Amino acid sequence: MMEKNAKIYVAGHKGMVGSAIVRELERQGYHNFVFRTHKELDLTRQADVEAFFEEEKPEYVFHPAGKVGGIVANNEAPADFMYENMMMEMNVIQSAWKSGVKKLEFLGSSCIYPRMAPQPMKEKYLLTSELEQTNEAYALAKISGLRYCSYLNRQYGTDFISVMPTNLYGPNDNYHPTHSHVLPALIRRFHEAKESGATEVTCWGDGSPLREFLYVDDLANLCVFLMNNYSGNETVNGGSGIEVSIKQLTELVAKVIGYNGEIKWDTSKPNGTPRKLLDVSKATELGWTYKTELEDGIRLAYDDFLNSPMRVER
Ligand SMILES: NC(=O)c1ccc[n+]([C@@H]2O[C@H](COP(=O)([O-])OP(=O)(O)OC[C@H]3O[C@@H](n4cnc5c(N)ncnc54)[C@H](OP(=O)(O)O)[C@@H]3O)[C@@H](O)[C@H]2O)c1
Repeated sequence: MMEKNAKIYVAGHKGMVGSAIVRELERQGYHNFVFRTHKELDLTRQADVEAFFEEEKPEYVFHPAGKVGGIVANNEAPADFMYENMMMEMNVIQSAWKSGVKKLEFLGSSCIYPRMAPQPMKEKYLLTSELEQTNEAYALAKISGLRYCSYLNRQYGTDFISVMPTNLYGPNDNYHPTHSHVLPALIRRFHEAKESGATEVTCWGDGSPLREFLYVDDLANLCVFLMNNYSGNETVNGGSGIEVSIKQLTELVAKVIGYNGEIKWDTSKPNGTPRKLLDVSKATELGWTYKTELEDGIRLAYDDFLNSPMRVER
């Protein structure tokens, strides 16, 4: 259990997940933080990361920093996704071990499970068959981070854990028109359609694929919960366990935003994987469950979108 005055470093604290982890830690009474922005400390630079850990000596580390993007971004820049994520995680995890960090939590992602993994996906399915081609580079980097944590535990007795979040959304999301994830992309599209008075919006595929979404503050709650209640080499899935079709999701976003026009489906465009759902029984058995229903979460996310700049760049 982290003491309330423990010194905590959240890598990537300005990002969507990092800022939610800080909010959750503050809510629970933690206050002794150390932060560095991307500009102040480039986590891909090994010597700088080592010097930072030696100087600050944090006791606990959350590691949500990373290069993150949707299918298009991952597909366009596999070399960048592999190099930046691999360097960041190796540097942070290794420096944490060397400088005697008590516990570290690394963040994976549900998209790194095998392409044809049985549904819902259990933690043990990791690395059991071929990866998804479009984000293979990202997956290889993230899997290396997960495994590096468990190898350090085995070889050096560290207490480094990981969590595997499903699709996340919420405050500080990335609303880039082509490089964002599906939910923030829909928020932006329907907002713009409403603003411009458009009478129809066309979406890709037929809307049938099933997906799972988790409000980022719920994921942050799980991250702190695991830091305080879980040790082990196997990762822990973080999701709601609830599926929604892309069509239902689209209609929900349109409703929250107040877009009253038509929604058309371009079935000449690919649908993607028919179903992607995490098995969250492990987190449930540990005593955690999600709190925010999808419609409430979209409302909160849309408020954040309206109250902040377009957030193409942070
Ligand atoms: N978003 C999702 O749906 C989702 C789903 C599953 C898992 N995850 C996990 O959650 C993590 C965080 O995702 P997110 O959505 O919060 O991403 P995000 O908003 O883009 O946050 C990533 C943070 O890392 C920082 N960063 C990137 N490169 C850096 C570098 N070289 N040195 C220092 N800082 C650097 C970014 O700073 P700048 O913005 O200044 O570059 C940003 O603050 C991911 O790594 C992934 O493991 C996310």
